[in-house]
Amino acid sequence: MKRFKTLTAIVLASFMAFQMVGCGGSADQTTDENASAEESADVENSEDKLVWATNAEFEPYEYRDGGEIVGIDAEIADEIASRLGLEAEVADMNFDSIIPAVTSGKADIGIAGMTVTEDRLQNVNFSTPYINAGQAIIVPEDSDITGEDDLVGLTIGVQLGTTGDLYVTDNIADTTVERYTKGFEAVQALLQGKIDAVVIDGEPAKAFVKLNEGIKMCDDYLTVEEYAIAVSKDNEELLDQINSALADMEEDGTLTAIFDKYLGDGEDTDEAADSDEAAEETTAE
Ligand code: ARG
Repeated sequence: MKRFKTLTAIVLASFMAFQMVGCGGSADQTTDENASAEESADVENSEDKLVWATNAEFEPYEYRDGGEIVGIDAEIADEIASRLGLEAEVADMNFDSIIPAVTSGKADIGIAGMTVTEDRLQNVNFSTPYINAGQAIIVPEDSDITGEDDLVGLTIGVQLGTTGDLYVTDNIADTTVERYTKGFEAVQALLQGKIDAVVIDGEPAKAFVKLNEGIKMCDDYLTVEEYAIAVSKDNEELLDQINSALADMEEDGTLTAIFDKYLGDGEDTDEAADSDEAAEETTAE
């Protein structure tokens, strides 16, 4: 519950600052997100289904466990669908195909640990944010890098089209940005010594560090962000239904239960991104 409630209290000033910074060099990303959705999974949309587009490479939000796509966003999608009397159907695709899938109607919504940004708001509507997050830095265990200032001039891996990509590209001087389709590929490149650091959202960063020996996460986060559900601008009714389902899920404890299942007791989550330190860094940009 706390996580959801903190959203209204989130350091909005710093969030806005991040968005404004993001606007500067954002042309590329807008282009990416308008690109064709041809990589999209072949899913047929129909009246009784709620097709949710995602990129299941993002534990604990969406990832594959056996053949199944599980995680926080998968549970949120299932729960919203059932509250709307619909059957949830997942469409797994590249991250930068999700917004095109939503705008084209191939998917009804996008749920993908997706950060609300000014750029994306030009193409889709976003629901009420359901959790806050921030970009984290992963480095080799023996690295001296401790935070943003140490990244200047280095080769940094990101997932293509994400806010990590945008932030590093726009804010860190003299870097070579290596863009990978999957966050996992960036981590592989780091493990192979091909790049100096990976910038990716905090919870997936923790999952990668847990799964792979020889890497660690820096304490400082680079941004303060909010995740929300992307909905077509042509479907205000669905947006309202999703917002009221989310409000009910907050009210009756469903959201808290989902977060607790995947994030533990909440002490060790992306809430770290709310810290004054992260807020100051973001505002300072
Ligand atoms: N929060 C970041 C963004 O919105 C990264 C999201 C990546 N999500 C994923 N399912 N791969 O750009």
